[in-house]
Amino acid sequence: MQSGKMADSLNCDLKSLSPLQLFERVTEQGEKVRALKAGKAPKDEIDAAVRMLLSLKLSYKTTTGQDYQAGLPPKDLALINNGTAKEEDEDLVDPWNVQTSNAKGVDYDKLIVRFGSSKIDTDLINRIERAIGQKPHHFLRRGIFFSHRDMDQVLDAYENKKPFYLYTGRGPSSQAMHVGHLIPFLFTKWLQEVFDVPLVIQLTDDEKYLWKDMTIEKAYEYARENAKDIIACGFDINKTFIFSDLDYLGTSAGFYKNIVKVQKHVTFNQVKGIFGFTDSDCIGKISFPAIQAAPSFSSSFPQIFNGKENIQCLIPCAIDQDPYFRMTRDVAPRIGQPKPALLHSVFFPALQGAQTKMSASDPNSSIFLTDTPKQIKTKINKHAFSGGRDTIEEHRKYGGNCDVDVSFMYLTFFLEDDDRLEQLKQAYTSGELLTGELKKVLIETMQPLVAAHQERRKQVTDEIVKQFMTPRKLAFEF
Ligand code: TYM
Repeated sequence: MQSGKMADSLNCDLKSLSPLQLFERVTEQGEKVRALKAGKAPKDEIDAAVRMLLSLKLSYKTTTGQDYQAGLPPKDLALINNGTAKEEDEDLVDPWNVQTSNAKGVDYDKLIVRFGSSKIDTDLINRIERAIGQKPHHFLRRGIFFSHRDMDQVLDAYENKKPFYLYTGRGPSSQAMHVGHLIPFLFTKWLQEVFDVPLVIQLTDDEKYLWKDMTIEKAYEYARENAKDIIACGFDINKTFIFSDLDYLGTSAGFYKNIVKVQKHVTFNQVKGIFGFTDSDCIGKISFPAIQAAPSFSSSFPQIFNGKENIQCLIPCAIDQDPYFRMTRDVAPRIGQPKPALLHSVFFPALQGAQTKMSASDPNSSIFLTDTPKQIKTKINKHAFSGGRDTIEEHRKYGGNCDVDVSFMYLTFFLEDDDRLEQLKQAYTSGELLTGELKKVLIETMQPLVAAHQERRKQVTDEIVKQFMTPRKLAFEF
């Protein structure tokens, strides 16, 4: 038996550990017990190691309120910012989770401070307007793209007639994408049009194979299916290269060299801090961030940039992907490359409310690009969280709350007419417009939008996909 003194000092030692450190200690001890048993160690030694394991598991439960589960780091406590655990009342935002207790959604102003990015303010929007000579996209005007890194440098380059390129991506986790996924792609299409620049789109079929319970063949197939949805957004075939990691990595020395350079300059401790990986994660996951980082460097695409390095990259994405690019920007100067610039969007909320994002892994939370008009109507009527009052009388008297109403939030993304949106807001807030009526407007907005997408997708043949996905020179001279 362990003496009381030893147990006390162990407890004291454990109290000073963070939940993630405790998780790692339990995992290590579990591995030790298995190794002792496998090596047929003396019974005393195995018993002592098992007692230590039980004690560690108990401390883990006391600290986190959760039972230890192998391979699953503590929920809501994942590290989000270079080793800094989030505070109790902070929102959880990383590439795998978006969670807040606030019905209005994530506090994006706080996120800007925590992530160390910059707000897209009126000055920047005006500067974009001057540079492109037209009204900025409603995603910019309405704060849907709300945060950036170094966008002023991109505008400097553009104004000085220096080239830059766009890079975005998709993890093909399922056959059908949802309407939330359209946000970065529709915005990227607009950026491509107004700035007239090359675009590369990464399909991380490797990532989905590593993270999901999915065969490599399925991930590869979904990449092609998702490419059709992306192409249906209207990208210019002469200016866009779409690639699957499983394909392109084997054919491009430039891409692989950049991956290895990034791998050499990031330690396991760093990715643990940024992504919350543990010793039990497979090495594929641990090295994957380098694969998402590498397309930020133009030398990964010698066929497009004529072998030129140092061409500035701009990445539009939702802010969940920022951890990958914080890491990329940290490494870039150390491998002699420019830091990629970023434009971050907010999340398109789940039907059930803005406490979390629309996610393909929860079908009830999402309107899919494959949904029929009837499914769209049923989902909105049944699941879209309402900011209306309990009875018609109360609603007429006190009005609805647009800040938490999912139908209104969706309209801010997809109803382009500013005046109509403002009228709806006023009518709903005053109680003149009822929840059912607001939902009807949303249904009538989403049904034709999704149907038109499906129609465009039908026109995308396998041959067109192949052309987009063939490494080639694009319509730009470098
Ligand atoms: P993925 O497939 O999770 O998401 C694809 C893109 O959609 C954004 N997104 C959303 N935007 C608004 N509301 C939502 N509810 C929502 N859900 C997802 C994501 O931020 C992303 O921009 N690892 C990546 C693939 C990737 C990538 C990239 C993404 C590789 N390279 C470069 C952006 C930029 C992924 O799994 O994305």
